[in-house]
Amino acid sequence: MIHHRTSFLVLTALVIVGFAFRAAAPANPPQELTPPSELALMMRAMAAHADSVKAAVNRGDDLPRYPKAFKGLPKAQPTKGMHIDPITFPTFAKDYQNKLGRLYKVKGSERQQAYNALVQSCANCHGTHCPGPLMRIKKMYIAAE
Ligand code: HEC
Repeated sequence: MIHHRTSFLVLTALVIVGFAFRAAAPANPPQELTPPSELALMMRAMAAHADSVKAAVNRGDDLPRYPKAFKGLPKAQPTKGMHIDPITFPTFAKDYQNKLGRLYKVKGSERQQAYNALVQSCANCHGTHCPGPLMRIKKMYIAAE
């Protein structure tokens, strides 16, 4: 008997906690009803990576670990029905990867410039594919002093 009561209480507590978390979670945009594509997930990781590079460059810290996963960018599956241009998309993807490689090669004093070139490569692809994040990308540059 005591067992049943305990598990009922535990269950009630879990339900309450569950609701609390749901209420705290931000409302999802409509496209989140279907899981994000492989490409969309990679983009979120690329944006997060760029944000941490920016913070590191501004503080003069070491760069975050080199993100090997972004090698898969040219082949990542986009959202169903999204038009991916067979010529320009791989070209822009390669350009992003070149800028990423360069960022990790240059000396500290050239990192700001290399980071801004990386952000420019994001903006270039987004000029022709998926313009939605362009506003966010434009705010990612490190302003010249
Ligand atoms: C080669 C082209 C290309 C490059 C380079 C590129 N993007 Fe994207 N990005 C896309 C495409 C296409 C999508 C839409 C993906 C989908 O819905 O499957 C996207 C989606 C996004 C999204 C929305 C992801 C989501 O949650 O749905 C963000 C944010 C984003 N990109 C930021 C960036 C940033 C920041 C960079 C550079 C660090 C970058 N992108 C570089 C093509 C590119």
